[in-house]
Amino acid sequence: MLTSDSLSLVTTVTNTNPGVLLFLLLCLLLTTALTFAPTKSPVPGPSYCFGLGPVLSYCRFIWTGIGTACNYYNSRYGSIVRVWINGEETLILSKRVTQIDLIWLRLMWRMRNLSKSQLYVIFRSSAVYYVLKSAHYTARFGSKQGLQCIGMDGRGIIFNSDVPLWKQVRVYFSKALTGPGLQRTVGICVSATERQLECLQDMTDASGHVDALNLLRCIVVDISNRLFLRVPLNEKELLMKIQNYFDTWQTVLIQPDIFFKLRCLYKKHEKAAKDLQEAMESLIEIKRKTIKESEKLDDDRDFASELIFAQNHGELSADNVRQCVLEMVIAAPDTLSISLFFMLMLLKQNPKVELKIVEEMTSLMDDHRSDSEVTGNEDVKKIDLQKLTVLESFINESMRFHPVVDFTMRKALEDDYIDDIKVAKGTNIILNIGRMHKTEFFPKPNEFSLENFEKNVPSRFFQPFGCGPRSCVGKHMAMVMMKAILVTLLSRYTVCPRQGCTLSSIRQTNNLSQQPVEDEHSLAMRFIPRASPPPHTEHS
Ligand code: HEM
Repeated sequence: MLTSDSLSLVTTVTNTNPGVLLFLLLCLLLTTALTFAPTKSPVPGPSYCFGLGPVLSYCRFIWTGIGTACNYYNSRYGSIVRVWINGEETLILSKRVTQIDLIWLRLMWRMRNLSKSQLYVIFRSSAVYYVLKSAHYTARFGSKQGLQCIGMDGRGIIFNSDVPLWKQVRVYFSKALTGPGLQRTVGICVSATERQLECLQDMTDASGHVDALNLLRCIVVDISNRLFLRVPLNEKELLMKIQNYFDTWQTVLIQPDIFFKLRCLYKKHEKAAKDLQEAMESLIEIKRKTIKESEKLDDDRDFASELIFAQNHGELSADNVRQCVLEMVIAAPDTLSISLFFMLMLLKQNPKVELKIVEEMTSLMDDHRSDSEVTGNEDVKKIDLQKLTVLESFINESMRFHPVVDFTMRKALEDDYIDDIKVAKGTNIILNIGRMHKTEFFPKPNEFSLENFEKNVPSRFFQPFGCGPRSCVGKHMAMVMMKAILVTLLSRYTVCPRQGCTLSSIRQTNNLSQQPVEDEHSLAMRFIPRASPPPHTEHS
């Protein structure tokens, strides 16, 4: 703060020489930077350098996207890095067990004759795993104004950092995504996929290609509606709004306050968020009417009904109900459809894996057919998804090798220590799970190979859905959905991306999640009907 004395001094000097004022201002900046410079951190990362470090690291996050910036810093400075986002200290953790760690652990095991549980304690010190499991990190971080723009500040679940309220709503999500909801999922996934495949002709362009990501999104939004909301809706219109909302989400999430004052930049994002919120409000209104008009209470109430009842009982606000429904409806199209898209690309790049999956599927269906008189998509519905072990390894390996969710964001709620490093309350944490998954634990960490899942993989090495109290609440349902959609699709079609399009050649961004850039050609695939009898009989 300038005192009145110093102000009058500045005025006098300015009147005399503007160059001196500039010099004084520079001195002031320097003094401020030195006064408030943080004490030297033991954590590697860009240096503070009179405030230049924080500015530059923040610019990198805004400019390249969060995921890309994290990978840059981890590869440059190691598995624990200190950076700044919007002036706030942020740790990026990708702690993975290195070859040296493994040698050391083996030595310890042999020399000290450690038991398995003791080894577990040592492994548990993996920083990422520790944060995931700890109750000290159940909040997330983001710009307050950004979160207000998208309705996530103190509402909904995904970025709700009002911990008691988050706990309250998480119960509704858990209930809808497990138990009877989970059991209904297979049937709904199969019929929603069949329904979209029936319309394949209308989606095919003159060159015989289909926008595969769009098709997968249509399937997934239809499933989400049938599971959680159950109101008639225009899927294409809603999908457009979901995509615009997602773009806004990743744009505003870590913006500085000044961004929200620049109307020309902010206006379109504000509109995108409002459009989806209004669409949700109308759908919930339809749902409210349906509930009112129905004579008897539904025995298996869906997610939206449960929330509306909670609101009627004064347990949740109307805004919160809308936000929870919105987040439930966008969760799968934003993650699962992109994961499936990556999987279809990987499948074509690994024909032997496709063959193995189809063989496994066909033999299970054949077994089932001989046991009972089922036809058409009924045999897909009745298939025991747990027996599809090759498919499960393929899904896991795809999520490990090319994940859609590359990292997750948390905030320290208490002072703590991570691997002997003091972490002050309020520190932002980014867990770079994508990088953690390239650990030497896997036989071929940097290649796509089912060998990586041949042996049982302990959960501390593989967390595509996170774990602990703030893990993905939809993880079990997501696995069932991916299996059911893939089985339905692959039992009828083999897909073929445009020539030369591979996962490494298509343009992608990695901001809030890893996504393909949606241009006209790269996402197009041909859907070629499988020859009947299926390849299983041809090759066996
Ligand atoms: C391939 C598909 C998916 C992947 C890879 C994925 C991954 C993740 C990850 C990594 C997190 C953060 C976990 C953490 O911070 O520890 C998360 C959170 C979440 N996911 Fe998923 N997810 C998927 C599908 C779904 C689906 C289908 C739903 C629901 C329909 C869903 C609902 C959620 C919700 C509500 C959260 C926030 C949980 C909270 O903050 O309490 N996800 N997901």
